[in-house]
Amino acid sequence: MKKSIMLIAALCMTSVMTFAQKVIRVSTDKTDLVMKVSPKGRLYQVYLGDKLLNPSDYDNLKWDVYAASDGAVCQRGHEVYATSGAEDFFEPAVAATHADGNMTTYLYYKSSEQKPVDGGTETVITLQDKVYPFTVKLHYVAYAKENVIKAWSEISHNEKSPVTLWRYSSTMLYFKSSKYFLTNYHSDWAKEGQPETTQLSTGKKIIDTKLGTRAAMQAEPFFELGFDEPAKENEGKVMLGTIGWPGNFRFTFEVDNVGALRVIPAINPYASDYKLKAGEVFTTPEFIFAMSNNGMGEASRNLHNWARQYQVNMGMDDRLTLLNNWENTGFDFNQQSLAELMKDAKDLGVDMFLLDDGWFANKYPRKDDHAGLGDWEATKSKLPEGIPGLVRDAKKAGVKFGIWIEPEMGNWKASELYDKHPDWFLQNTGVEPVQQRGGTQARLDLCNPKVQDFVVGVVDRLMTDCPELAYIKWDDNAITANYGSTYLGSDRQSQIYTGYHLALRKVLERIRAKYPDLVIQGCASGGGRVNYGLLPYFDEFWTSDNTDALQRVYIQWGTSQFFPANAMAAHVSAAPNHQTQRTIPLKFRFDVAEAGRLGIEMRPSDFTTKQLAFAQQAVEDYKRLRPVIQLGDLYRLLSPYEQGGVAASHMYVSADKGKAVVYAYKLKHFVGHTVPPIRMQGLDPNRSYRIKELNKVGNSITADGKLISGKVLMEAGLALALDNEYASRMVELTAE
Ligand code: DGJ
Repeated sequence: MKKSIMLIAALCMTSVMTFAQKVIRVSTDKTDLVMKVSPKGRLYQVYLGDKLLNPSDYDNLKWDVYAASDGAVCQRGHEVYATSGAEDFFEPAVAATHADGNMTTYLYYKSSEQKPVDGGTETVITLQDKVYPFTVKLHYVAYAKENVIKAWSEISHNEKSPVTLWRYSSTMLYFKSSKYFLTNYHSDWAKEGQPETTQLSTGKKIIDTKLGTRAAMQAEPFFELGFDEPAKENEGKVMLGTIGWPGNFRFTFEVDNVGALRVIPAINPYASDYKLKAGEVFTTPEFIFAMSNNGMGEASRNLHNWARQYQVNMGMDDRLTLLNNWENTGFDFNQQSLAELMKDAKDLGVDMFLLDDGWFANKYPRKDDHAGLGDWEATKSKLPEGIPGLVRDAKKAGVKFGIWIEPEMGNWKASELYDKHPDWFLQNTGVEPVQQRGGTQARLDLCNPKVQDFVVGVVDRLMTDCPELAYIKWDDNAITANYGSTYLGSDRQSQIYTGYHLALRKVLERIRAKYPDLVIQGCASGGGRVNYGLLPYFDEFWTSDNTDALQRVYIQWGTSQFFPANAMAAHVSAAPNHQTQRTIPLKFRFDVAEAGRLGIEMRPSDFTTKQLAFAQQAVEDYKRLRPVIQLGDLYRLLSPYEQGGVAASHMYVSADKGKAVVYAYKLKHFVGHTVPPIRMQGLDPNRSYRIKELNKVGNSITADGKLISGKVLMEAGLALALDNEYASRMVELTAE
């Protein structure tokens, strides 16, 4: 024991000499994250906040935030990647049981480097234990202009046998302010993205899920922090954070004994001990965050900007409009009725027809959602000419063609896939699988490489048979139940949750390598998988199965805090709405869906002549304004959660401020519920804007056709006459 203390002391001396002055900065144009190596060679966060101005500022930052009243040898600070068993007694970033059974890790700074990467600067810091050959590489990419930082870690070792990881966080960040307010987003099927704000007090608050997949059935993987006061839209110090991991995640917010807030974003370690082999590198998901001194609005515009350029597949492109048959035919269609719908799609003016669930399986035909999943052959009785026949019909009608798949699933005892490969399903020996989706839907064991090949093969076969396929809707409608893998041995069952998503990433990488331009939508019973970890592979997501336009205002409001409009699919559905039975005017439904990537779920033949003309004009205007709506800067003007929740309003502004589209919705209507003129944002005060109301029904706004300066629109506002229940407005502003 004595010997090892002496050894550590000697090593500390080496560190003192080599690294005592080492300062590492991860900086954007407005934010600085500063780390310092202590005299003992350990790495501490000394600052996270507004960009500092002078080199001398860095000298004055201290790493030892605790008073060393007991004269302890090692003073403590906020260690950048705190370990278990060491001298920090709060939640660790990493915890490992070493090959010899010891559960203590001390990480020391070894080296760091910085290099330019696409759009930013990457900092890689290597930390190492001195007793065990155990290494952590901390990665940070700072995107200067967008003020976004993403951080992740790589854990590896060269011990004699596997090391068990039981905490493996993406990063660890410390904040210091008088008060902390957390806005997290709770969620459920058809009720995604509901904000809830609480003040954090001493101790821990944990937001996590254990669903395996479809996190948003429980909690969304994103949050906001307000420092000193709850996060506001246009003022105050805030942070937006999100983890790129569609599996179980865990955000730990811990206020420590000196009043600092520790934020630990991680894969949820629940039932997920990871046996890391020597030489294997465990890469954690990315944690992405944006800070601002000007409130949520600026932070979320920065995040959108970053996401479009660097994270979302084909994120700088605008998206196709489409007609989806799901809400209008369900499973009840055939080749002829689909051909009719394709013609209707063309007549409406949309770019594409999307065939949803129900087109596949022969031995167990997909008549409803109880059978056929896994058998990706077109049902001959419904579609005699298969998918190639439909692609041909779409071409004839003059629209592109897209198709639905759910390749990570099968129907237990109700699919040929099960007949042939029962071992490909997650399962527990001797236990009937958990019933999902009212039937036998079960998740495949993606940890098994044969299943990975099968899933890649589903896309491959479709693309080989139909190279002109323009779009895939990739669905995923069950949680990860039946937690048991016949592929992973008895010693690796605790790797199912994590291994599943590492495998999913591999599968999607293979698909993207082969089909980089295929548009793929991520869907999981609606917005169950809205996540930046998937968006490098998916181009967009289905925001919610809830297409009731009133509820969609709230769902889209929450989701758009973090995700850009070109990734957020929003469809017009029939009235009364099949979920809520609410009848909302067609105009309101279009005005809401046109705030995202527009699609239509209605059967066009259900439109009256007048409605059809309205819809055709709306689609035409949307397509004309698509670059502003889908790629413009989002300004939130009136929150549905504030001022009594009477109305909501937001706008998109083009980068050159030459064009804007404004939306406003009346959410509640009682006598006296007036909505004063709404003040625009993001316009050029020195230019004048021509006002053109879109999707007009009934009376127009008084400013329609007028030329008004940006200054007046931003200071005095625009009167939008939201006078009755479900009143809504959509207005185009063009600088002249
Ligand atoms: C759930 C999706 O969210 C719906 O849009 C639809 O595709 C169904 N699955 C089909 O089963």
